[in-house]
Amino acid sequence: MTLRTILVTGSNQGLGMHIVHQLASTPNVLVFMSGSSTKFVLDVHPSSTVVPVQLDITDDNSVTAAQVFISDFIKEKGLQASIFLSSSFLKIKTPTAISSAAIGAHSFKAVYEVNIFGTVAVTDAFRPLLNNDGTILNVSSGLGSISAYTRRPAPLVFPAYASSKTALNALTVQWELQEEQKGSAIRVVSIDPGHNRTNLNKFTGGMPPADGCKVIVDAALEKGGKTAVFLNRDGEVAWWNPDFISRIEYQIVGKDSL
Ligand SMILES: NC(=O)c1ccc[n+]([C@@H]2O[C@H](COP(=O)([O-])OP(=O)(O)OC[C@H]3O[C@@H](n4cnc5c(N)ncnc54)[C@H](OP(=O)(O)O)[C@@H]3O)[C@@H](O)[C@H]2O)c1
Repeated sequence: MTLRTILVTGSNQGLGMHIVHQLASTPNVLVFMSGSSTKFVLDVHPSSTVVPVQLDITDDNSVTAAQVFISDFIKEKGLQASIFLSSSFLKIKTPTAISSAAIGAHSFKAVYEVNIFGTVAVTDAFRPLLNNDGTILNVSSGLGSISAYTRRPAPLVFPAYASSKTALNALTVQWELQEEQKGSAIRVVSIDPGHNRTNLNKFTGGMPPADGCKVIVDAALEKGGKTAVFLNRDGEVAWWNPDFISRIEYQIVGKDSL
């Protein structure tokens, strides 16, 4: 049986921690669990392993050090990385001044620093380690689907956070095309875990993260699934709402015909 080697960023609390916990409770996986601290207590399946790694995705030195560590580790064990899973949200660098619950209050710069620039840095660093049928999973949000905002009542308005997840979804599609053009079978997928009780929302979410993370764990363990898709626990989510586009077209046609 082949060992699946999975790196999970942002996994010392919240969804990331539960993802690692559930992956490591299944047989034959090796999980690199990462975060600012590396204090983990886990139940691990006897044939699985969890390796803690310090990785701040916004810090180039930390990304390089983690890449070298993981690359050496898997080479020594004769493995290849099969899944790269990016689940970080925001590390609060300003002590207590910003509540991690108030995701709407964070500046564009702070949010994009982690959700986009950090994710790009870490993906660029780790993609060369992925085997040809590996998977890149981007943990997105339902708020990243523009179609969510075409509904009324609209979801809460979080311009920085929601647009960063829309940008992340755009990266999923761009990265998948790059893989397609290289002839690689690497899958790139965006996932919305739903509204979970984590530090992100001051534990006000509707779902325990141990449940919310299942869609991510399933996608990580799935073999030969779809690529360039946006998934949630009910299946595929629309990147954009075609009904909304036809409504706009209808309005334009209607206007022109006046
Ligand atoms: N909770 C929800 O309802 C919900 C809904 C939709 C999408 N999501 C997405 O799910 C993902 C996980 O969110 P969560 O709810 O589990 O949040 P969380 O409990 O606040 O956990 C965030 C994790 O990201 C890590 N992190 C933050 N900045 C980082 C950085 N610069 N480098 C590396 N790791 C960093 C944190 O590590 P430290 O502890 O070391 O800071 C922590 O482990 C996020 O992408 C979020 O947008 C969550």
